[in-house]
Amino acid sequence: MDCIAKEIQKLKKEKDIAVLAHYYVRDEVQKVADYTGDSYYLSKIATSLPHKTILFCGVKFMGESAKILNPEKKVLMANDAADCPMAHMVDLEEIATIRTQFKDVAVVCYINSTAEVKAHSDVCVTSSNAVQIVKNLPQKTIYFIPDENLGRHVAAQVPEKHFIFGSGYCHVHADISRKSIEEAKAQSPSAKVLAHPECKAETLELADFIGSTSGILNYATESPAREFIIGTETGTRYELERMNPGKTFFFTDQPPVCPGMKSVTLDSLLDAMKNQESPVEIEPELQTNACQALSRMLELAK
Ligand code: 13P
Ligand code: SF4
Repeated sequence: MDCIAKEIQKLKKEKDIAVLAHYYVRDEVQKVADYTGDSYYLSKIATSLPHKTILFCGVKFMGESAKILNPEKKVLMANDAADCPMAHMVDLEEIATIRTQFKDVAVVCYINSTAEVKAHSDVCVTSSNAVQIVKNLPQKTIYFIPDENLGRHVAAQVPEKHFIFGSGYCHVHADISRKSIEEAKAQSPSAKVLAHPECKAETLELADFIGSTSGILNYATESPAREFIIGTETGTRYELERMNPGKTFFFTDQPPVCPGMKSVTLDSLLDAMKNQESPVEIEPELQTNACQALSRMLELAK
């Protein structure tokens, strides 16, 4: 273990900090984390930790969600500037308009959204629980924000409901083109294609499996196949290879890289631990309102 990683391990114990990391962050950051996972797992585990402080290696909405669910804890970001552009692709006025137009509407927000958006929503979802939650909502009309690609993927599996979609998207996943998957498949014809539902529908059509980052990891681990083409961010390679020695994972020619996730480094993590300068703060009324949507997700996803 190098010096900086050793210092991080020492400070975790001294300062009673739990380090949580998403699968998209750099390998060396995942290596020093106490818990790694997809957005759903990380939001859930954050509610059951005894530590005084949670340090999030991921993008802003993840740290915000941890703070909303655990207002009594100190929540730090390993890099305050790490953000997800899609989280901001919601027009709050549009939510109000839809609510007046459709009396029986459920506003369903993807966890990749700001605290304000969550506060205006009925329930939050992640890519690993969206279908289950939407199916079980009493409302027949669903306003799904912000990710249109995930919304359409969910809608296809819940044909009994009427969907209205936001127009947000993840530029990292939207850039995984159908052509790039076809090219990867031409080079490795027996490889299974595993893709994240933030990809466009035309790309998802080529997938053998569509799921969250944890879903992709579980599928690859349980599958008898030996080769996989991965339609999500390259950070997943670390856990895919760690869990599956002997299996081969290919990414598209222009590998999908999330700048926000990759802006978290061991140096920024160590700085955040030492200085603890700008913990995540959510104003009490916003916290209470946003917490309803997140708590409902945890309840309905059980
Ligand atoms: P997961 O919930 O699958 O981890 O996805 C989070 C994300 O940001 C995907 O781009
Ligand atoms: Fe946001 Fe896309 Fe990065 Fe996920 S991969 S955090 S959706 S920009």
